[in-house]
Amino acid sequence: VQGCTGILSLLSDRIDGEVLDAAGQSLRVISNFAVGYNNVDIAEAARRGIAVGNTPDVLTDATADIAVALLLASARRLREGWESVVSGRWKTWEPMGWVGQDLRGKTLGIIGMGRIGQAVAERLVHGWAMQLLYTSRSPKPEVDSQLGGRHVTLEQLLRDSDFVSVHLSLNAQTRHVINGDALRWAKPTCVLVNTARGEVIDQAALCDALREGKLFAAGLDVCDPEPLPTDSPLLKLPNCLVLPHIGSATVSARNAMAQRAADNLIAGIHGKPLPYPVPLPACS
Ligand code: DGY
Repeated sequence: VQGCTGILSLLSDRIDGEVLDAAGQSLRVISNFAVGYNNVDIAEAARRGIAVGNTPDVLTDATADIAVALLLASARRLREGWESVVSGRWKTWEPMGWVGQDLRGKTLGIIGMGRIGQAVAERLVHGWAMQLLYTSRSPKPEVDSQLGGRHVTLEQLLRDSDFVSVHLSLNAQTRHVINGDALRWAKPTCVLVNTARGEVIDQAALCDALREGKLFAAGLDVCDPEPLPTDSPLLKLPNCLVLPHIGSATVSARNAMAQRAADNLIAGIHGKPLPYPVPLPACS
C-alpha cells in the first residue's frame, strides 16, 4: 500500500493502523468490497482523514435468500439426508427417517433488524406465515405494521423463537453476543442461522449446544475463523451446515458490489465525496 492514494479491500483484508501507517500521507480512500466493514479500523481512518466506503443494498436479496436456504436446509436436515445417500446409509423409506421441523406458523426471531434482517423476515412472514420477533437498537414501526413484528429483548427472542436468524454487524458490542448463556435460553428445537459475521456467535458454545441437543440445528454462512479449519469440531456435527461465506455470491450482487466499490474508489482518489460512505466516528 505504500504510496497508494486508494485501497480496494476485501472483507478478509485487515486494514488497521499498521497498514495505514505503511500507506502514509498519500492515502485518501479505503473502498471495502463488502457491506460489512469490521475489517477496517474506521476510528484510525477517521483520525487520519481517510474516507471509507462500502457496498450497501445491492446484496440484501442475495444474502436473505441464503439465510432462508440455510434455515430450510437445517430445519429439514438436508446435510444428513445427503450424507446418508452418498454413504449408502439410506436403505429404505422410514417413517421416522430424517424427520425435521415444520416452518409454517412458527416464530421467527431476527437478531438485528437492518436491511437484510428485514428481507429475511419478509420472505418468512409472507411465505410461511411466521410470527415475527426482533431485536434492534429501537423498535421499527414499519416492521411492526407491515410484518406484524414485535421488538423484544435478546433473551425473550431466544426463549420464544423456533427459528433465529442473525443479522448483526460485528463490533465490540456484538462480538460473542450469542454466547453460552444466550444459547441456554433457546428452545432445544430451535434452528439458528448466521449470515452476518462468525464472531457474533461464541462458536465453542454453539458447538457444545448442538452436540448436547440444546439446539436442533445451525446453518452458518459465516464462521470464526474463515476459512474454518477442516478439523473444526463443528464440521463433525451432523446438525451443522457450514457454507463458505457465499451470502452475496450471485452474479448480479457481485457485479453491483464491484461497481459500488469502484465508484467509491474513483471518487475518493479524486478527492470527491464517496457515493456510498461509511459513517466515520467524530474525532476528538
Ligand atoms: C458483506 O458484504 O459484508 C458480506 O458479508 C459479503 O458477502
